[in-house]
Amino acid sequence: MGAKPFFITTAIDYTNAPPHIGHAYEKVLADVVARWHRARGREVFFLTGVDQHGQKVQQSAEKAGIPPAQFAREITAKFKALWAKLGIAYDGWAETTDPRHIRAVQAVLQQLHDQGDLYKAKHSGYYSVRQEQFLTDKERNDAGEFGPEWGEVVHLEEENWYFRLAKYRPWLAEYLAAHPEFVTPSFRGNELANAVAKEAGDLCISRPKSRLGWGIELPFDRDFVTYVWFDALMNYVTFAGYRAEPGAGLPDFEKFWPCDAHVIGKDILIPAHGIYWPIMLKAAGFGTMPKLLVHGWWNLGGAKVSKSSGNVVDPAALADRYGTDALRYYLMRDIATGQDADFNEERLRARYQADLANDLGNLVNRTVSMARRYRGEKLAAGPADRAPDAVALEALGSEAARRFDAAMAKYDVHLALEAAWELVAAANSFVESSAPWKLAKDEAQSARLDEVLAVLVEASRLAAALAHPIIPTSADHLLAQLGFGGCFNAQWQRLAEGHAVGEPTPVFPRLE
Ligand code: MSP
Repeated sequence: MGAKPFFITTAIDYTNAPPHIGHAYEKVLADVVARWHRARGREVFFLTGVDQHGQKVQQSAEKAGIPPAQFAREITAKFKALWAKLGIAYDGWAETTDPRHIRAVQAVLQQLHDQGDLYKAKHSGYYSVRQEQFLTDKERNDAGEFGPEWGEVVHLEEENWYFRLAKYRPWLAEYLAAHPEFVTPSFRGNELANAVAKEAGDLCISRPKSRLGWGIELPFDRDFVTYVWFDALMNYVTFAGYRAEPGAGLPDFEKFWPCDAHVIGKDILIPAHGIYWPIMLKAAGFGTMPKLLVHGWWNLGGAKVSKSSGNVVDPAALADRYGTDALRYYLMRDIATGQDADFNEERLRARYQADLANDLGNLVNRTVSMARRYRGEKLAAGPADRAPDAVALEALGSEAARRFDAAMAKYDVHLALEAAWELVAAANSFVESSAPWKLAKDEAQSARLDEVLAVLVEASRLAAALAHPIIPTSADHLLAQLGFGGCFNAQWQRLAEGHAVGEPTPVFPRLE
């Protein structure tokens, strides 16, 4: 039997507002990891999508004066268009209004109800409209108030359905202690363990239709819809085929579960993904748990990206201005996975100019141009016994590839890129020190010129192949020019005799 396919998902994005740079980062991160696994020959199931129900969507739709279904559809189209533009190559698409999802969510709710994990109770207290949850004194700030992060807070008395979360807390605490790999990075796992250790009650999983109509109806009490998080979290399994009817067009669940990485932002670890989700799975009878990859946030000028303060960057406009791969590269290079970073368009420009145009682009362009100029279309493999500087570059390239893969396996994309660009820098230095233009003038140096050109093509190919998951379109062009279209082999490979390179064309044009 082969290895289990790699199963990766992202948070599903709220359809109450158009996508911003934070949404784009998360999808690019997941796409890069998925492409890296595919490039190493592993089967991948990459699931992403949109969160269409809930109060936020209902409110935005009301403001726009259109039905929530239409509003969610319109915003969904914006997300889909952006993912197409950014080259997000997902295999599965989750929309929570999909009847297949609704059926499966209702089936799980019915099961939890039948096994006694749900109960109905009356609650009166403060409720945050923005966060769609009841607040307790824990949520009050030092001044004793509910801070601005909760948005509008209203007093409500309501009868609702509750999920017996407290009953499963001891299990979760034990699970976390025994499974440190549940959360990456580990400092987030520690935060989660601390949160779980605190006493807390059950989870309200319903909203009366009188207040919120835009959700999945409870199958055992038609006056209520499901709390949006219960609905949304379930997407990770329903769109992977969990409880799907035969012929529903969804994958074979057994083949993919458990998920290797739910890629989420730090804001939705506690309580949603770190507490509700594993407990929901446990209660539903799951024997295995997914893993969580928690990334940090992109801020703007040190402040949180937020639509209400007009503090947003449109990723589509950036991709139009600099190219999709420039944006992807910047988003992967200027943040350490798990940490926060500040978005800065000047940095994006600088990275494009320095790393892509000057370093990688120039290396390939010089290499292919010189190969054509000095040898025509066909290159020689060069002497089997190589000069010390060529041997050293090969060793450095192999080591860079090893470090690249080791970093990617830990989701440290920035470190992987650092390793790949050390190879690029070393190859550019090799061009300078070996000076092929001088060798070309001296007939006696013909074998050395063959060697230098071969080694440069090898180094360029390896660098482009490594960079492929991050900058797929550009890397495809670079590889094609090097005569290696479609070759993503991540090892140093000696050039074959008679290898033909293509036409040199700049892949990263200078910015205005
Ligand atoms: N709909 C919920 C998730 C449900 S998952 C079962 C949600 N949606 S969201 O649109 O608000 O956020 C989607 C993802 O984008 C989250 O993982 C969130 O952390 C991430 N980001 C939102 N803003 C971000 C930044 N400024 N920077 C990086 N990621 C950010 O939460």
